[in-house]
Amino acid sequence: MSEGRPLLVSGNWKMNENHFESLKLVQELAALLRAGGLPPGREASVHPPFTSLRSVQVALESDHVPLALGAQDCHPADKGPFTGAVSAEMLAKLGVRLVIAGHSERRTLCGETDEQVRAKLDAIWRHGMTPICCVGETLEERRAGEHLAKVRSQVAAALGGRRGEQVASAVIAYEPIWAIGSGETASPDDAQEMCAAIRVAVGELAGAGAAAAVRVQYGGSATPDNAAELLACPDLDGLLVGGASLDAARFAAILRAGAR
Ligand code: PGA
Repeated sequence: MSEGRPLLVSGNWKMNENHFESLKLVQELAALLRAGGLPPGREASVHPPFTSLRSVQVALESDHVPLALGAQDCHPADKGPFTGAVSAEMLAKLGVRLVIAGHSERRTLCGETDEQVRAKLDAIWRHGMTPICCVGETLEERRAGEHLAKVRSQVAAALGGRRGEQVASAVIAYEPIWAIGSGETASPDDAQEMCAAIRVAVGELAGAGAAAAVRVQYGGSATPDNAAELLACPDLDGLLVGGASLDAARFAAILRAGAR
């Protein structure tokens, strides 16, 4: 963390936790955060499945839990004949503050393109929420030395041609695909190198102000054991946590990792 950007640690629950289980998890988190809350300069969000959003929102608000409500995806259109889809407008009405877009699982499993991810960002911003735009390379791309070019092109596709102020408000999650759910974490040096490169790319696209303000998270097998070291990297402003966010004690430990 550096230059006054608040750290943002986000729990991506993926397709886990029905609404009963989600409530239980939030209540456990609330109990763990009651004593002491979040460390200063830290923010956090939870991203349950759509079916749990309402229950989690009520639980967070009624208990004054210091966790923002997040979603995992949205459709770029506001309404229409898109069976099974959920719009950013619907999410905003539910009190959602942050929406993940372009997670590698959606890019890979659902064939989501850079153009669709950009349209989702438009929708998220249109409804006053903050996008967490995911970028990251495959193992083959890293081995071929193409990781930087891949990530730069994803960042350009999502954020190129936008106003500096808008870009400044984005969160970018650098998630090397080989590290997601694999137990293999990028080393702090690799994570720092990529997060710094993303910041440089943002500067080229949207100016120095946007580069200094944009928050860059790391995601991929983040745990209580490696969180403090990752969060100490100067260009890394938080974590996008999958597996470890499904356990209240582990997620609470990550939220407090390395805090003084
Ligand atoms: P993981 O997932 O922490 O389970 O590796 C991270 C993510 O996909 O956001």
